[in-house]
Amino acid sequence: MDYLLANTPLESLETECLIVAVFNNQKLSPAAQKLDSLTGGIISNILQRGDIKGKVADTLLLNYLPHAAFKRALLVGFGDADNLTAKAYRKALSAAAKSLKSSHSSSAVCCFVENKVIGQDTTWKARQIIEAFDAPFYQFNDCKSKANDKPALSSLSVHGLTDTDAIQSGINQGSAIAQGVTLARHVSDLPGNICTPTYLAERALKIASQYANLSAEILEEADMQKLGMGSFLSVSRGSRQPAKLITLEYNGANKDTQPIVFVGKGLTFDAGGISLKPGAGMDEMKYDMCGSAAVLGALQAAAQLQLPLNIVGIIPSSENMPDGDANKPGDIVTSMAGLTIEILNTDAEGRLILCDALTYAKKFNPDVVIDMATLTGACLVALGRVPSGLLGNDDTLCNDLSAASETALDSVWRLPLWDEYQDQLKSNFADIANIGGRDAGTITAACFLSRFTKDFQWAHLDIAGTAWKTGDAKGATGRPVPLLVQYLLDRANAA
Ligand code: BES
Ligand code: MN
Ligand code: ZN
Repeated sequence: MDYLLANTPLESLETECLIVAVFNNQKLSPAAQKLDSLTGGIISNILQRGDIKGKVADTLLLNYLPHAAFKRALLVGFGDADNLTAKAYRKALSAAAKSLKSSHSSSAVCCFVENKVIGQDTTWKARQIIEAFDAPFYQFNDCKSKANDKPALSSLSVHGLTDTDAIQSGINQGSAIAQGVTLARHVSDLPGNICTPTYLAERALKIASQYANLSAEILEEADMQKLGMGSFLSVSRGSRQPAKLITLEYNGANKDTQPIVFVGKGLTFDAGGISLKPGAGMDEMKYDMCGSAAVLGALQAAAQLQLPLNIVGIIPSSENMPDGDANKPGDIVTSMAGLTIEILNTDAEGRLILCDALTYAKKFNPDVVIDMATLTGACLVALGRVPSGLLGNDDTLCNDLSAASETALDSVWRLPLWDEYQDQLKSNFADIANIGGRDAGTITAACFLSRFTKDFQWAHLDIAGTAWKTGDAKGATGRPVPLLVQYLLDRANAA
């Protein structure tokens, strides 16, 4: 899809679908007024008939207009013109995008930057348009013998006559984020028999080859053995697929600037191991690599935007399978950090691979480390599928991530990481146990990780409820790519 700026007045513009805003009480946006006068009052007539009220996310597609340059018009409600929140703006954009998809237009011009949105600037408004309009056009076709019909839309233009530099940078940011989200959704939706650790490693190398200042390095099991990653390797021992430790390095700042390090859980299939999961819904455990997918998407977006930062992405990737050589409950392994771990449940494998990756992160002398993982079913119990769980050992970092999540409309909610919870990880036979019992499962999982992150500022995102959708709309969401890229943009602005 091409995302363009349209900075010509509406009377000299041509498009298959002109998308304009309407508000409560039959109020027309400036673009809608212009369309109204170009069409001899059709728009105000339709509003007076009551066919569209103007409530947030109302849409009405006009398939024919007596105006040759616009084949169609899409009217979209934004509620109260002077009281439009960021969330409501995004909600209306998403409704508009869905309606545009069903219209079969091959080009469209969107006139929403002129809307006032509380607390947001032109760049943000343009960027949200791109992100919201890109999302419904994503399709996973790799594994269908007959591909779905391709959506007709090939270009979307953001209309604006003033502030066009700000609009253009919003378009650039939006398309980098949208492409990062699409990449994350695609690798996540791939089945476990295709998206193996080896596949993820090859994909990382391919992404890196597209940018001069992005590089990838793959460590094999023998390399990890030398590093002493006994915890990570214990998980992959139960799988016939070799584990990979993937590192992506993006250099956009000078050499001695400390990097922002992302670590993403890359379990390409989590059967639970000997502590086997129940069968129902187990297919969704192909999504246990969504953290790693987000790392790939965020690094690609950073490289595309050539952000003036240094960023490292670390992806420990493995399967978790039952096997004669797999971890058994009661086994004790030694992590790279030297801590011994009693594996009381082999299904708590994410923390076992992440702990060694977090120890490995130290070698990059990180400014901050942010890990993201589909880590606990308990996160769904606590927070549902709305925000990602946020925990960490540094208030500034956690606050920065919370602020970025609000701007990006990719929500997070912080949970406490108090010392009182650490007791739940006591083991009679090793330094720590890999599970903390039924209570506060998301917190005790983060407590486990916190034992390996004492030397740097660290935050953890539990994306078990947000990385994919279940049910009829089953599919990856690409979260938390928008949050990560927003955090990077904020850091780049502050630098
Ligand atoms: N990948 C799962 C977490 C998960 C489960 C994410 C369901 C999304 C939906 C993780 O490896 C896991 O199995 N966690 C266990 C931990 C438990 C054994 C302490 C869980 O959540 O049940
Ligand atoms: Mn598991
Ligand atoms: Zn898992």
